[in-house]
Amino acid sequence: MTREFEGSIVAVTGAAHGIGRAIALGFAAEGAHLAMLDRDGDALAETAEAARAHGGRVLTLEGDLLDTDTVEAHFARIAADFGPVHTLVNNLGQTARENYSEFYLAKAETLDFVIGISLRATLHCSRQVVPGMRERGAGKIVSISSDSAFNGDIGTVDYAAAKSGVLGFTRALARELGPHKVNVNAICPGPTNTRAMQRIPKDAYERARNAIPLGELCEPEDIANAALFLASEKSRFITGQVLMVNGGRVFH
Ligand SMILES: NC(=O)c1ccc[n+]([C@@H]2O[C@H](COP(=O)([O-])OP(=O)(O)OC[C@H]3O[C@@H](n4cnc5c(N)ncnc54)[C@H](O)[C@@H]3O)[C@@H](O)[C@H]2O)c1
Repeated sequence: MTREFEGSIVAVTGAAHGIGRAIALGFAAEGAHLAMLDRDGDALAETAEAARAHGGRVLTLEGDLLDTDTVEAHFARIAADFGPVHTLVNNLGQTARENYSEFYLAKAETLDFVIGISLRATLHCSRQVVPGMRERGAGKIVSISSDSAFNGDIGTVDYAAAKSGVLGFTRALARELGPHKVNVNAICPGPTNTRAMQRIPKDAYERARNAIPLGELCEPEDIANAALFLASEKSRFITGQVLMVNGGRVFH
């Protein structure tokens, strides 16, 4: 390890499980101080302990990020305890899962939930760090979208809409913040080996795998590697871009 992020302050949403956990641990291994936001307190504590083993400071912030007051309180606490956030990773997001349906059957509350968790939370969390990044003339915002935004998978119209929104957000904000040397980029994972994928029926899992030219599902660490790259100085001239990390399932 190069400890590339030694002393850097990184906030990760949805950091307790899955891709967020891998991103948080990836930054911790490179020396970052981590603010980890999630509603699952037990899992957050476990991931935080694994992160602390790398020697950096770790702040856990438990609560529902669909609630704007909670988002504001969490980021105020990060500023007070750690100081300015250098990198924000907007990882939070999901499909309707058990309420999954084709659009003609969709319930209004399901659409609101998916847009809230997969798009609105990204805007509200970003709003907390953008003024400081703009003022300091430095910062990185990396948002996790999905290759479903390009593929348009059946049954996840709401999710494709929300994740496409994350891409529009990324491009417009990159243009606004470019003159302030703040990089804003997005990553589109394909189907990734997290809890949700491990719970789906075996035949659906096989179908997902067979649709990927590289012949296997993405691992959370593949997304973490991309996030670390987009938060590093190696990507200093990359902004407003979408990085597909999907084994070639969809080309862009
Ligand atoms: N797993 C995949 O196959 C896949 C594919 C493409 C994109 N993505 C995207 O990657 C990101 C991470 O997905 P994942 O599969 O790792 O998810 P996950 O369900 O494994 O983890 C999500 C985390 O968010 C937390 N969380 C959920 N609701 C919350 C809330 N209201 N407030 C605070 N925390 C909350 C959970 O406790 C959990 O720790 C999401 O944006 C997802 O849309 C995932």
